[in-house]
Amino acid sequence: MKTKVFDVRDIYKHYIDKSTVLDDAETDEKFEETLKDIDQAAQVIIDGGLVVFPTETVYGLGANALNAEATAKIFAAKGRPADNPLIVHIARASNIGELTPVLTPEIIQLIDNFWPGPLTIVLPKKENVPDITTGGLKTVAIRMPDDPVALELINKAGCPVAAPSANISGRPSPTRRQHVVADMDGKVDAILIGRDCRVGIESTVLDLSGEIPTILRPGIITAENIEAVINKKVAIDPALNQRKGCSNSDEGEIDFIPKAPGMKYRHYAPKADMTVIEGNRDKVKSEIERLKGLNEKLGLKVGVILFEEKAFNEAAHEFFAKLREMDDEGVDLILAGALSEQDGVGFAVMNRMLKSAGYNIAKV
Ligand code: TXA
Ligand code: MG
Repeated sequence: MKTKVFDVRDIYKHYIDKSTVLDDAETDEKFEETLKDIDQAAQVIIDGGLVVFPTETVYGLGANALNAEATAKIFAAKGRPADNPLIVHIARASNIGELTPVLTPEIIQLIDNFWPGPLTIVLPKKENVPDITTGGLKTVAIRMPDDPVALELINKAGCPVAAPSANISGRPSPTRRQHVVADMDGKVDAILIGRDCRVGIESTVLDLSGEIPTILRPGIITAENIEAVINKKVAIDPALNQRKGCSNSDEGEIDFIPKAPGMKYRHYAPKADMTVIEGNRDKVKSEIERLKGLNEKLGLKVGVILFEEKAFNEAAHEFFAKLREMDDEGVDLILAGALSEQDGVGFAVMNRMLKSAGYNIAKV
């Protein structure tokens, strides 16, 4: 398939904040061109095709969420298992009613505080949402992304847009334009090139379909952040705290099956082998040095991922990009220093780090 690639980065100059465009008087020809490119991409969605677009978390691979044939193409392009449901993106919070019959004061509080932004909420789905979009589940995951290109695209398409991360299944999520082009060129109708993703890890997935609000996938919006808004205890899916494998790996039996189907797959894997070194900071540093020296003597190319101790947001921003850079450099072994899981964002990055390493952990 021939993919049309549109660089629409010019748009960011003209947005003062999340979704407000500057006065027409202040826009220019280049900006008008950019809007036309997004029109073309929106037409692709309307026609049932696939468009890759930037969001603040990671790049997404979008199709009309209410068109079963269109969302089927997403699964094919990614090589994604059919039981792994897609997140449905909307451009106006008020459009939530197209997807779910439920709207409580709690949901409104969450929307007011976190949308547009990296919070996905899972609610009972309406009939019109095709089963294929939700992986056969009776619930639907909904989010309003915080990126003007994404919002403009969804608005112009005039329909909710289902979009998983725009990586080939099993590869790290793309957060930089070169990474998304590498994975998706030739597999989709259009790619909208935006800025590097500000957050760098995928949205927090919060299940609101049961009695207790439960985080199914951690992100930079933490349980504490959510509790502060809804004034209620938020649970963490117990599957997130088990430090072993996934259903499709050989790392042993798991005790809890994750409630988000996607969390059971070995995501985010770099080509290199990867070990997470955990323990006292100084010991971690010296163990990384020791293992690096040892493996280099054996002729292996070693990559190190060691973030500043408390730079959790930066770790989120950089982590997937680093995995991909190391793959591109032909690294054989990645040694990564563990982050503190006491911090909510640290916990979210560690979730990805441990999965990337196939739960290969060395304690020092
Ligand atoms: O930040 C993000 O959320 C990105 C950008 C593109 O918006 N999207 C993303 O989508 O990460 P994806 O498909 O890679 O991950 C969706 C996750 C999966 O773990 C999936 O199983 C879970 O959300 N999920 C989706 N619908 C669900 C549902 N109805 N119930 C439980 N989990 C659900
Ligand atoms: Mg994904």
